[in-house]
Amino acid sequence: MAIEVRPITPTVGADVYGADLNNENDIQDIKQAFVDHSVIAIRDLNLSPEEHLKFARKWGDINVNRFFKPVDNYPEIATVLKEADQVTAIGETWHTDHSYDLAPAMCSMLYAVETPAVGGDTAFASQHAAYMALSDGMKKMLGNLKAWHSSRHAFGVNLADEEAHADGRLGNEEKAKQDALHPVVITHPLSGKKCLYVNGDFTTHFDGWTKEESQPLLNQLYAHCSRADFTCRIRWEPGTLAIWDNRALQHMAINDYSGHRRLMHRITIEGVPLS
Ligand code: SIN
Repeated sequence: MAIEVRPITPTVGADVYGADLNNENDIQDIKQAFVDHSVIAIRDLNLSPEEHLKFARKWGDINVNRFFKPVDNYPEIATVLKEADQVTAIGETWHTDHSYDLAPAMCSMLYAVETPAVGGDTAFASQHAAYMALSDGMKKMLGNLKAWHSSRHAFGVNLADEEAHADGRLGNEEKAKQDALHPVVITHPLSGKKCLYVNGDFTTHFDGWTKEESQPLLNQLYAHCSRADFTCRIRWEPGTLAIWDNRALQHMAINDYSGHRRLMHRITIEGVPLS
């Protein structure tokens, strides 16, 4: 039986039901749903780490995250954890995974192991919709700009999330040395659609501009990028696997479940240089 794809909003996101991750036809349909909706939530799975890895390898090479604590015995799977008594959640502000890499990750695959009964959703924002809603004048100006992205301030010695570094959820600060230059408007490698590509966690400044000159326009773009009508929310339950496209979206973990534990396993798939 074919998978059932139910869009979450007309702009972005779909739930996927009835998927068998060992069935090649289902995998092809899942990949198409991913291209069509940018983020998909495959429901009602029961994945071991081996099964998660086996499925992920069908999408490309795995990018081993340098900063997240790995799952015990599975170095390719990152732990995304917030304990009941912890305050900060990893990824709780709008961002794009791995934009600080020269070839930023294609997609992230987040599997829900333990979730709060309510809360802890992840929000996603379509950066194609954000681009399309700009004026022609702004599109033209941004089309000529590139921006620098860095991991230094987020994962490096400045320790943006001090709690997560102190409790071991994030580490390897010395590896946060890479900067990358990407166009501010990219052509999506799969869909060919234009997408805005700046984010508040990792973008530092426009190429050829100072940080002070860059920040006002970046702030305006960040406010625009997450406009409600560009977004959807994925509601999690154990057994949900979400796959999102880092070139088409920004996302944000909603940190509204104080006093409850949330444990997710994330695998990230390599991407290509952006143009
Ligand atoms: C992330 O930013 O990769 C984590 C998202 C989440 O935990 O919902």
